[in-house]
Formats: sequence, structure tokens, C-alpha cells
Amino acid sequence: MNIVLMGLPGAGKGTQAERIVDEFQIPHISTGDMFRSAVKEGTPLGLEAKSYMDKGHLVPDEVVIGIVKERLGKDDCERGFLLDGFPRTVPQAEALDRTLQELNRSIDAVINIDVNRDALLARLTGRRICRECGATYHVIYNPPKMEGKCDKCGGELYQRDDDNEETVATRLDVNINQSKPLLQYYSDKGLLQNINGEQDIDKVFDDIAEVLRGLSQ
Ligand code: AP5
Ligand code: ZN
Repeated sequence: MNIVLMGLPGAGKGTQAERIVDEFQIPHISTGDMFRSAVKEGTPLGLEAKSYMDKGHLVPDEVVIGIVKERLGKDDCERGFLLDGFPRTVPQAEALDRTLQELNRSIDAVINIDVNRDALLARLTGRRICRECGATYHVIYNPPKMEGKCDKCGGELYQRDDDNEETVATRLDVNINQSKPLLQYYSDKGLLQNINGEQDIDKVFDDIAEVLRGLSQ
């Protein structure tokens, strides 16, 4: 199962990815998570990525393509993978096609979680994340049982640096522009599956799982 998960910032990619990897046992490859851990470790990659992420801009294609290519070559991807937040531009999609071709593989489906801009703004500014295990919450839509504490591990919840109102607006505009030709690219290949992301989290997952179960039959 070789899956691409698309959606604008805040559409619910990370939230759904947690569930998809649990249910379908494929590795979760999130370029955003990879950059955030590089930032945390203070590596050269992290320093470079941070300057773009803090402004809400995209990290340059050649940087992102390099790290994904390396990751897809690891053994755990042999049974499949869930790419989350990559590709985000047409050149990234073309590079992914070339990489998969070299590995004798191809994409089985592109799942696009569709949500309107106003809802995305509200989702991103209210998001909280566990410092320990990375679980995602929302102060209104998906609150933890105890304020500021993770239900799963008791870790402290924090707000991402790029989830302030100003950066969120830039992220949305940048990603809306880039996603249009990318959606067309996958639609032309007959791979695109649009999912209504303006439903509750469980219902969105049910719709995604139905598409993915259809692939494995
Ligand atoms: P990345 O980490 O990928 O961020 P993003 O695309 O902005 O997406 P998010 O993680 O913000 O949102 P999500 O869709 O995962 O939503 P979530 O599930 O958390 O990338 C960060 C940065 O890294 C980029 O800006 C860029 O600089 C760089 N980067 C990464 N990949 C790149 C690439 N390929 N090329 C270039 N640069 C790249 O949900 C959001 C909130 O909503 C949560 O609080 C959640 O609880 C809530 N929620 C989720 N679902 C629902 C629902 N159905 N109803 C109500 N609330 C919901
Ligand atoms: Zn936790």
C-alpha cells in the first residue's frame, strides 16, 4: 500500500495518519515531522528548514526531495508507506514518481482531505501537541481530558511555532497556490480520492479507511 495523504495545513493529515498507520501497519513519513525533529536536534538541515517554516514558506524542493528519497529506501517501506505532506509541489511529485520507478514501485492512491479556509484557520490556531509522544489535540474540537496534559502519556501540551495567526495565513495562501496544479496532476493520473474533511474525526477516518480497504482487495 503506497499512499499519499494530501490536504492544506490543518486539514487533519497528522490526525488521520495516526489512525491509518495503526489500522494498516505502514510507516508514517511526514516531512513536517522530519523537519521538526531536525530543528529540535539543531542539525544543519534543521537550521535551514526552520528559516522557511517560521515564515510559513515551503522548504526548497531539492532539500525535501533528498530527505524523502533517503527515507523511502529504508527497509520498513518495503510493505508500503503513508506519505504525509509530501509531495507539495509538482516538481516534488515528478521526483517522487522517478524515485518510485527506480524502486519498481508506484503510488496506489492519493487521498486529499478537503476543508475550507476559515475552518483551517480555526483548527490551526487551536491546535495543541504533546511534547512527549506527538499526539495532536484541539482546544475546542478535540480537547484533552485534563487541560494542558496528554491523555495518552501525561506529557505537556504545547503550541507549534508556526501556528500563530500571521504565519497560519501565509501557510494557507502558499499551500492553496501550490496544491491546485498538484491536485490536477494526480487527478489526470486517475489516483485522486477526495475526502470531505469537514466531518468529525471518526467519520473522516471511516471514509479514508473505505478507500484503502478497496485497494487491498
Ligand atoms: P507540516 O507539518 O506538514 O504542516 P502542514 O501541512 O501545515 O499541516 P499541519 O501539520 O499543520 O496540519 P495537518 O493537516 O496535519 O492537521 P492536524 O491533523 O494536525 O509542515 C510544516 C512546514 O514544514 C511547512 O509549512 C513547510 O515549511 C515545511 N514542509 C513540510 N513538508 C514540506 C514539503 N513537502 N515541501 C516543502 N516544505 C515542506 O489537525 C489540525 C487541528 O485540527 C488539530 O488541532 C486537530 O485536532 C484538529 N482536527 C483534525 N481533524 C479535525 C476534524 N475532522 N474536525 C475538527 N478538528 C479537527
Ligand atoms: Zn503524549
